[in-house]
Amino acid sequence: MTRECIQFRRKDRTVRLDRFSPLSTVLDWLRLEERSTGTKEGCAEGDCGACTVVIAREHEGRLIYEVVNACIATLGQLDGGELITVEDLAHEGELHPVQTAMAAGHGSQCGFCTPGIVMSLFAHFHSDGDRTDRAKINDALAGNLCRCTGYRSIVDAAREACAGHVTDRFAAREAETRAELQQLNDGADIFVGNIERFFAAPASEASLALIYERHPDARIIGGATDVGLWITKKLLTLDKIIHVGRAGLDAIEETPDALSIGASVTLERATAPLASIDPDIGEILRRFGSVQVRTAGTVGGSIANASPIGDLAPLFIALGGSIELRKGERMRTLPLEQFFIGYGKQDREPGEFVRRLIVPKLPPATFFRAFKISKRFDEDITTTLGAFRIGIEGDRIASARVAFGGMAATPKRALAVERVLVGALLHDVGAWRDAAERVGDDFTPLTDMRASAEYRLRVARNLVTKALAEIAGISSPVTRILDSRQAAHVAD
Ligand SMILES: Cc1cc2nc3c(=O)[nH]c(=O)nc-3n(C[C@H](O)[C@H](O)[C@H](O)COP(=O)(O)OP(=O)(O)OC[C@H]3O[C@@H](n4cnc5c(N)ncnc54)[C@H](O)[C@@H]3O)c2cc1C
Ligand code: FES
Ligand code: FES
Repeated sequence: MTRECIQFRRKDRTVRLDRFSPLSTVLDWLRLEERSTGTKEGCAEGDCGACTVVIAREHEGRLIYEVVNACIATLGQLDGGELITVEDLAHEGELHPVQTAMAAGHGSQCGFCTPGIVMSLFAHFHSDGDRTDRAKINDALAGNLCRCTGYRSIVDAAREACAGHVTDRFAAREAETRAELQQLNDGADIFVGNIERFFAAPASEASLALIYERHPDARIIGGATDVGLWITKKLLTLDKIIHVGRAGLDAIEETPDALSIGASVTLERATAPLASIDPDIGEILRRFGSVQVRTAGTVGGSIANASPIGDLAPLFIALGGSIELRKGERMRTLPLEQFFIGYGKQDREPGEFVRRLIVPKLPPATFFRAFKISKRFDEDITTTLGAFRIGIEGDRIASARVAFGGMAATPKRALAVERVLVGALLHDVGAWRDAAERVGDDFTPLTDMRASAEYRLRVARNLVTKALAEIAGISSPVTRILDSRQAAHVAD
């Protein structure tokens, strides 16, 4: 069955759109079509959060409130959800609790960021766990830039608003909303446009394989947190877009040895399972973009974009991960490190898509460390990321997998470093230094606006030493802003 429109809930009615450009963003539609101008455009590249909206979706019998940057989300991605914007919060003359707290606590000055901040806090208001926890509120706001108020009053307002029960009109009619959203999800393939120019969202993997094989020149999107910027910043014309979010590639499966993560699993959903392999992975994912980016962005998109500075690839390469691809009926699996063949190039044929990633867990007596170096702590693209998987037998290093991002045209292994480490005594500081010196054998980093080549090399060498010092348990000055290993221990 094919449906030639997208459908979503908006202001208590169902909107059906059967004619729109595949390049339209949610923000375009809100401001230019619906003329709802409460949602602002600041950067138009997912960084400032002024355009934050919420999409409520039915997931496993619950209603979840996803925060999204409307400036880079394509309109077609709205299908099956309820679009909630800042105009919708106040009701019958009464402000929403989040708005009341922001106004009473002086959480706004010029007000340009405020609609986005209010929407992020609205989603946080509806989240689970301790909603008054300062660290959680800071995370919820990491994707919202305020240049004049300062965050203290905003965070205080969030704590005030979230102190009580979740009582608002959205919570009151949750059952009805879920029923309405269930009706929208009819399991039909979506195809809007014509064979020259379309937005498609197949409802099964088989349909995805078929349409992509027929249109290998189409651009696949997962969350569009990369592709959205090609539209708004590079002004690329993409005539054919295939969204993989409905194609059933969203399973997370666990075996005793590995995690299998479907390509369209969002970074937000992947965080807890991946953090269960090692807390450092959880910490890096917490710093991956912002909640808005992680809510939309997918694991498959992070790997398939072939970025040399993507955060997941070096982690998965160090863990010994593999990637499963499909074209038509043909499937193949390859070690992830072989997938990256050059700058922006992957071993992926036209019409072939990423199905899933297989990420091994840590075998016994194997230790993992990963460090993301960026100019800013939150919501910043990586300068250099080092990931280390070290297996120990007795007092020696029996196996080593070391991978770096940001050091070459592709994420890749530091084979020369590994060679020095295997067989060395774990506590042999001289061997660490020798290994660190070998980083330059495999990497000739670039100088760019993020860092110089010398800086990158120096940092990568220091990360080798740091990882080994931590694994060997040798006390070193505390350099972690949040010691996630300690935090995980305390949580136990
Ligand atoms: C503000 C901001 C902050 C960011 N911060 C970070 C960060 O900290 N770390 C980081 O690594 N990245 C960061 N990114 C980049 C981006 O969020 C990630 O690369 C993200 O994982 C991309 O996933 P996506 O699903 O949105 O990809 P999309 O934009 O949908 O697609 C990216 C590429 O992958 C292809 N693709 C997607 N899915 C598939 C599939 N299943 N099969 C084949 N091809 C596919 C697309 O065709 C496209 O070429 C940031 C982006 C923004 C806007
Ligand atoms: S306008 Fe800045 S994130 Fe969308
Ligand atoms: S109130 Fe002015 S940018 Fe936040």
